[in-house]
Parts: sequence; C-alpha cells; structure tokens
Amino acid sequence: MKPVEILKDIFWVGTVDWERRNFHGYSTSPRGTTYNSFLLKDEKVTLFDTVPQADASKLLCNIAQVVEPEKIDYIVVNHVEMDHSGALPRIVERVKPEKIFCSKMGLRALKAHFDCESWPIEAVESGGSLNIGKRNLTFVEARMLHWPDSMLTYIAEDKTLICNDAFGQNWATSERFADQVDRSELYRQLVRYYANIVLPYSPIVEKTIATIGAMGLDINYILPDHGLLLRGEDVAWVIEKYQEFAAQKPAMKAVLTYDTMWKSTEKMAHAIADGLVEEGLTVRIMDLKANDHTDIMEELLEAGVVCVGSPTHNNGILPKVADMLTYMKGLKPQNKIGCAFGSYGWSGESVKVINESLEQMGMELPCAPVKALYVPKHEVLAQCVELGRSLGQAVKAKIG
Ligand code: FEO
Repeated sequence: MKPVEILKDIFWVGTVDWERRNFHGYSTSPRGTTYNSFLLKDEKVTLFDTVPQADASKLLCNIAQVVEPEKIDYIVVNHVEMDHSGALPRIVERVKPEKIFCSKMGLRALKAHFDCESWPIEAVESGGSLNIGKRNLTFVEARMLHWPDSMLTYIAEDKTLICNDAFGQNWATSERFADQVDRSELYRQLVRYYANIVLPYSPIVEKTIATIGAMGLDINYILPDHGLLLRGEDVAWVIEKYQEFAAQKPAMKAVLTYDTMWKSTEKMAHAIADGLVEEGLTVRIMDLKANDHTDIMEELLEAGVVCVGSPTHNNGILPKVADMLTYMKGLKPQNKIGCAFGSYGWSGESVKVINESLEQMGMELPCAPVKALYVPKHEVLAQCVELGRSLGQAVKAKIG
C-alpha cells in the first residue's frame, strides 16, 4: 500500500500482510495483519518503528515516496519484537541515522537481536523529552506491553500517541483509520487481539492508562503498530474498551470448549449449554476440531463461565484439549468460573486433569465435574443440564 499522510507531515509508511495466517500461534485467518511504521517530517526527520525483515524493501519504497531515506535523522524503536524491528538492519545501513532512540530495556534487546555495536543508539528515560524541531517527543516506558522493552512516544504538538502493540488489531485493510471500517468487525478484532496477546498484561494496561492520565497527555490520535489508527471520538472509546478488557469483569456468557471421540463429550456440552441458557446466559459451544484456540480466547475474554470437556484418552485428555489448556493458562484469564466434563470408558481421569488445570489458573470451581461412562444416557444428560443451571446461578451471584 502507498504511504498515507495521516496528519500534516506525519505519514503512515508501513506494510500490509494480506496473506499472514499465523502469528506464533495466534490465528490471523482470514484477516492477515498490518505493520504500521510512521515517518515524521520535521527539522529532524524521524521514523517510528519499522516492519518485518521480509518487508524492508516495501518500507524503503514507501519512505522514498515521502523523503529520500538518507534524509532520515532519527529512528525511534518503540518495540524490538521482529515484526517491528526485523527491517532495522537494512534501514540503518541505508539511512545511516544520526541517532536511534529506544528504552533502556530496548538497548538490551537490540544488542541481543542484532550486531549493532556501531549503531548510534541512545537509551531514553521514561518521561524524557526530545526536541526534533517544531515538535517535542515524550517517551513513556510501557514494560511488558508487550515486551520488557516496549515504550510509547507522545508528540505533544500533534496530540498523538504512537503506542507499539497496545490498542492494535491484526487486520489487513486498505483503510488506515478505525472510523473508515465496519464497527463490529473492528471491535471483534480489538477483542481478539487483546484476548490473545495483551490479556496477561492487563495490570500493566491499567497502570499505563493511569500513567498517561497522570501525565495529563491530551490525545487526539492513537497510532498502534498493528491495524487501524484511532482518532477523534475513537480515542476515548478505545481507552475505555481497554479499561473494560483489563478489568475482566465476568459477564452472563459461557464458553464450552471440548474435543470428542465418539460424540459423547459433545452431547454433554450441549446438555450443559441447555442449563446455562435456561439461566439466561449467552452460550458459545466450541468444538476444538472446528475452532482454533485463538477463536476460543476471543470468545472467552468476556465470558463469566468456562467449561472444558474431554473424553479420557490414554489416562489423560485429548491433545487438542491439552493445547487449549496450555494456551489459556499462559494468557492468565481472571474472574472466571470453571468446570470440567467428559466421557470415559474405564479409567476416567480426564475431568481431574482438566479441573487441576483450571484450578491452577485460579478459576472458581463451584460444581463437581460430570463424567459419563461411554455414552451419556438420560440420567447423565439431566446431570449436565443441572450443572449448566448451577454454573449459571453461580455466575449470576458473582456478578451480583
Ligand atoms: Fe507486534 Fe510485540 O510485536
């Protein structure tokens, strides 16, 4: 895509990856992603973040449509992860910048990624400022949002916050601003990204938003490194959404996810769902053969109840359920009520294995799991419906 002047003398020069389908386990299917990079023409021409190594030529081509790359004076590295710094060696070689700015942890990360002994890197303090001509940049450390090196850069004169992974969405689009695309899909991609990347860092999100508030930063534009850029009313909207996501308040929604051998565990999932629906919950039934773990986390973010099912397989659980539980555990969901269910033939360990995993995640487990010998008959299915009702009542009591 061609560069876009998003504000006077601030250009989007990033790349759009329409084909990307997986981002280290995060399914970007079918939407792809974008890598946003920004070029600011001031007395010191400044480039904010780059793109993956494979897109270095496209980035240089976009820069060249705005200024000769050699005219770039400064590069600001807000985040060292390779989707934003992979192209850095080629850019540095071509541009020969006067300075490269990053956080203190960024300096450590750059040294660990690249042979950069000769690069003119300067680590900046959180809250530190840099004059680039008509504008002043302020750097705000945002450790673990998404890596230890992450920082945000605020441009006071343009009331603009460049914020690396925060507020992003993995979504390849021809549009550049959030107010130009379908609202429900925007929200969906914002939720999906938060649930699958940002969720474990929710306390940092709350802290960073509080820091921005305490610094009194007046923000008209939020420019993330992935997806659509936010301006006008969308700025307050996206900050409010991030506060809601970070709070992880349970909602009247349940996610039932499972794998099944001969449909017994699936029948149990449907019966539990019936009980939950009776209690007024919105339910998502998600077979792991039909849904990626990314899809399940997207639905789980706003759910108050999580039910996980597996038949017993080799004294344990089916591999797709093990994958889901491992992935879920790493993302540290909070304030959920959990429950296990599953069929078995002789030993029946699956519900114990699942319950232990949910317990390790800190989930409340108010109900005993339900097991079915081989094929659930009427009595067991009735127990499943009752389990759904009990879980629904428990989440209602929790919400208050
Ligand atoms: Fe988009 Fe943490 O990199």
